[in-house]
Amino acid sequence: MSCWLNDWQWFDFAELGSTNDYAATQSLSFNSSSKMIYSAKMQTKGRGRRGRSWVSPLGNLYFSQLFFSRRTPVELVYITALSIVDAIRFFSSDLPLQIKWPNDILIDGQKVGGILIEKMQNEAYVIGIGINLVSAPQNGVIYPVASLTDYQVKASRKDFIKQYLFAFETNIQKSFDEIITDFLPNAYKLNQEIIINNNNEKVSGKFIGIDEQGFLLLKSKNNIITINTGEILFS
Ligand code: BTN
Repeated sequence: MSCWLNDWQWFDFAELGSTNDYAATQSLSFNSSSKMIYSAKMQTKGRGRRGRSWVSPLGNLYFSQLFFSRRTPVELVYITALSIVDAIRFFSSDLPLQIKWPNDILIDGQKVGGILIEKMQNEAYVIGIGINLVSAPQNGVIYPVASLTDYQVKASRKDFIKQYLFAFETNIQKSFDEIITDFLPNAYKLNQEIIINNNNEKVSGKFIGIDEQGFLLLKSKNNIITINTGEILFS
């Protein structure tokens, strides 16, 4: 099935290995002005960050955007995470939503969504998004998980994608300063002690902000350390 959601062309499949892999294949014969969405009702080889799998049963939302952008991957991470939060808030405005740097979407400290951004050739990007609409698979990693249904949020796959795209088109117009300003009130563990894991190397300190490049600032003893990759551990 294919239809238009404003100027995005949306293809919805019954099943794919991974919507990111499908989008990557399509990027090889892709025209720079196109904006595509590929979704699947289920995925058999859903991928998460850091080589993890993303368990993808029927009922949840799995989609990938394929488009061209001059924004950097770091900027797009924040733009995407904020747009997911905006979309969820459209359906329910007072949930305890947070973004766990760089790009996990949490409700009440439990993961409800994840983002996998992959840069293709010629400034094409694939942004893959998984949202636990109705169930909360563990993905083989032990961290707290929840679904939107657990919080009485009822959104169809199509309505969620529509609201997300609306928010994305708004957020991608913003300066990076504005994006970081919007991000900070949503940041998980801001001004608290955190542990960052980067390829099994752990650094701890107080999360004191984000710099103008989008890197996380960690105050550790009397030093401020700039972290450009890794993830905050759940605690
Ligand atoms: C993460 O939190 O580790 C990122 C999860 C990203 C999952 C989505 S589901 C749609 C798209 N296709 C994939 O194979 N992965 C992303």
